[in-house]
Amino acid sequence: MSEALKREAAGRAVAEIRSGMKVGLGTGSTARHFVDLLGEKVRAGMDIVGVPTSEATASQARECGIPLSDLDTLARLDVTVDGADEIDGDLNLIKGAGGALLREKIVAAASDAMIVIADDTKVVEALGGRFPLPVEVNRFGLGATRALVQRLVDGHGTDGWVKLRGEEAGTPFETDGGHLILDAFFGRISQPEALSNELLNIPGVVQHGLFLNMCRKAYVATPNGVETLLK
Ligand code: A5P
Repeated sequence: MSEALKREAAGRAVAEIRSGMKVGLGTGSTARHFVDLLGEKVRAGMDIVGVPTSEATASQARECGIPLSDLDTLARLDVTVDGADEIDGDLNLIKGAGGALLREKIVAAASDAMIVIADDTKVVEALGGRFPLPVEVNRFGLGATRALVQRLVDGHGTDGWVKLRGEEAGTPFETDGGHLILDAFFGRISQPEALSNELLNIPGVVQHGLFLNMCRKAYVATPNGVETLLK
């Protein structure tokens, strides 16, 4: 999708931000446009405070002049605006291609609302068919954790696979929290709640990229304009 369309979706989310709001700042190329546009508002006098979902977003927000805080100082936020890798008809999501899923989920859960901004290639009938599910895992016991995630993939009845992110390039990807990411391709995920519970029952799993019942509004950019999806 063109950067112009991503920016349009981001612009719709920025239009919902008012002075006085506490705002979760997402991660990724679409959220980057949101932070950039929000920075313009701040420089024009809007009084908001942002809580970034990654070190990359924190650094961009600082450059844009957005005042930052954290969830130790602010227990609740008004809204978080973030991108997504897959969005189903119930506005359930797969997130984590950028590796920020843990902080993204913590910030979204601390927010009264989550607005997703994305292009229409991210809209799917069922989660998992296109995009591997990122699973953030502790370094300790990686082999055992990977085998347990692989067992879940195998039990899913597809030609699924599990890859350690960055392994092929020789340097495993490390998250801001110092963890690793297993990308697990399940194929169509018919029971996301059940899979979420099964993954979280694996002790080495820190968090996964299924965002269920967290998002109530998405701005989806299409070549014909931005559509609003509501739950
Ligand atoms: C970051 O970890 C991800 O959850 C991103 O929000 C997601 O991958 C969407 O990124 P893009 O806007 O770059 O597609």
